[in-house]
Amino acid sequence: MSISGTDAYARESRLPPLVVRALAAARTHGFAHSCRPEQGRLLQVLAGGAKSAIAETGTGCGVGLAWLATGARAGVRLVSVERDPVRARVAAEVFSDRAEVEVMVGDWWRIAERAPYDLVVLDGGGVGKIPEDEPADPARLLTPGGRVVIDDFTPAAEDPPRHDGRPDLPRLHWLRHPALRTIEIPLAEDLATLVGTRRWPE
Ligand SMILES: C[S@@+](CC[C@H](N)C(=O)[O-])C[C@H]1O[C@@H](n2cnc3c(N)ncnc32)[C@H](O)[C@@H]1O
Repeated sequence: MSISGTDAYARESRLPPLVVRALAAARTHGFAHSCRPEQGRLLQVLAGGAKSAIAETGTGCGVGLAWLATGARAGVRLVSVERDPVRARVAAEVFSDRAEVEVMVGDWWRIAERAPYDLVVLDGGGVGKIPEDEPADPARLLTPGGRVVIDDFTPAAEDPPRHDGRPDLPRLHWLRHPALRTIEIPLAEDLATLVGTRRWPE
């Protein structure tokens, strides 16, 4: 979660029209936690590699989803799930003229209803950063070679990474996941993302 993600766009120009639309919705509804532009541009690039389907957990007001939809080629389906019904409705309005985009209301695991995907972005549920949030199963959600993206880490200062003086178990879960090959990508001084590719069966 990016604390000031929506505000980070104040210095940005030349944004894709769909991102501008989603940002306007986020600002109107006072939603501060949109993904940052650095993350959005990464999502746009990764979406371009998807062959048929993309999913996101935690739609917010649709800014990350707008980057994904902008990068995806024609014919690719996009599904995003948001548990806050007001945000889900706001995001659904942003994409009302985009038949390929579906915004679902509910808990993150609803993305499993349309699995598998070529790209899964975990931005609200399924990450495992808090005890009551079970991490998503990449083998269930991703096609072989498919990618998972987990946003909003601070760049690791040591190896193995630590958080509050202890091993950073949620980050290590993804970095060492046996079904994935995962790396940490620094996007800014204070922001890093994990990107994992599902291994092919041997
Ligand atoms: C960081 S914000 C998402 C930002 C959005 N992806 C974007 O790029 O603009 C996290 C969102 O996830 C939603 N959320 C949190 N836990 C969830 C869960 N278990 N299932 C579905 N949505 C969840 C929150 O309501 C919040 O809107």
